[in-house]
Amino acid sequence: MNITLENRAALDFVVTLRQRWADTLYPRLRAQYDEKTNGAGPWDGGIIAAQVHALPSYGGFAWLERGSQKMLWRAAIDSVTQAEGPEHHRAAPESGPSTLELDPDLVLPEWYTEWDIHIQPGGLWSSAAAGKVYELGARLVMLGENDDYKFHRLFAQTAIPRGDYRRIVDLGCGFGKSTWPLKKAYPHAEVIGIDLATPCLRLGARRADEQGLGIRFRQADAVKTGLESSQADLVTATMLIHELPLDVLAATFREAARLLAPGGLLRILDFQFTGDAVRDLAMREHGARNNEPYMPPMMAADTAGMAEAAGLQKVRWTAFDEREVGRLPTLAWPKRAEWHFPWAVLEAQKAA
Ligand SMILES: C[S@@+](CC[C@H](N)C(=O)[O-])C[C@H]1O[C@@H](n2cnc3c(N)ncnc32)[C@H](O)[C@@H]1O
Repeated sequence: MNITLENRAALDFVVTLRQRWADTLYPRLRAQYDEKTNGAGPWDGGIIAAQVHALPSYGGFAWLERGSQKMLWRAAIDSVTQAEGPEHHRAAPESGPSTLELDPDLVLPEWYTEWDIHIQPGGLWSSAAAGKVYELGARLVMLGENDDYKFHRLFAQTAIPRGDYRRIVDLGCGFGKSTWPLKKAYPHAEVIGIDLATPCLRLGARRADEQGLGIRFRQADAVKTGLESSQADLVTATMLIHELPLDVLAATFREAARLLAPGGLLRILDFQFTGDAVRDLAMREHGARNNEPYMPPMMAADTAGMAEAAGLQKVRWTAFDEREVGRLPTLAWPKRAEWHFPWAVLEAQKAA
């Protein structure tokens, strides 16, 4: 992308600000909390919140989290629109091996449109440029550390057992960064990306074509994909389920179970609480400060029980370390001083 010097400076500023927020401000808040509680804070969530809110660093920490996210989108929107102009995003996907199935009759659910998710103005769906803005914004959210999509490669390599998959369905595929590694790892499989957002699906198909990947991008709700029953050997969803209200999540588990062939696997990458009271509070509040209202209820819910209620078996969560290792053997994360997402993988299987 042809980014002006001014926009480049804005992008660099936001990334640096967010890095300092995560690697300096959060540890400072944490140190202040430990000092106040002698390293043995209470276990009552309400008391912890009150104590954390009274710490000297908290005001700046909380404000900067939301403020820098707003700056991020401003910088991303300016960069994308000034680099390419709005017409560019309306262009049909280049011809290539991917296919794009848009549904002109699809009515987006109200719970999806009523929030500008991640504070992205207009969400992922309401403008032609939204897919590209999200693509650039996602790189900034990951602090530039996922520029080559290592995170999604690690998920495909470490959280999914090698197998002879014939059909793989990626629910909530966005612009495809979770879907391309699946097609690369399993080139003979039919890989289908499902999403609600037209701009993301368009961009996903274009990016897949650019890489020579034949992926079916299909516009549908994850609760009603319109795909055949019992045909998928693997269903995935990365960073989707924390965006769903709990009743929609339950329906998504049921749809995944319906799609899976006997013995087929479900692998979901999302968040779980860590058991560290301050970190977990920061994550709950991240949901509020980042316009992700369904995240804290999802993290608090018995999601494994919901998957079982949908007819899935061998359900469990394990931790995921996005730096090098990927999937970890249990739901325990290595100690880290900086703020980080508590990534975790939900594993489940349809009875053989
Ligand atoms: C945070 S993005 C993750 C995208 C991609 N999986 C990744 O890892 O980069 C979540 C995506 O889920 C989509 N989404 C949210 N609710 C959905 C639903 N009910 N059905 C299909 N897609 C949905 C959003 O439009 C968005 O593209």
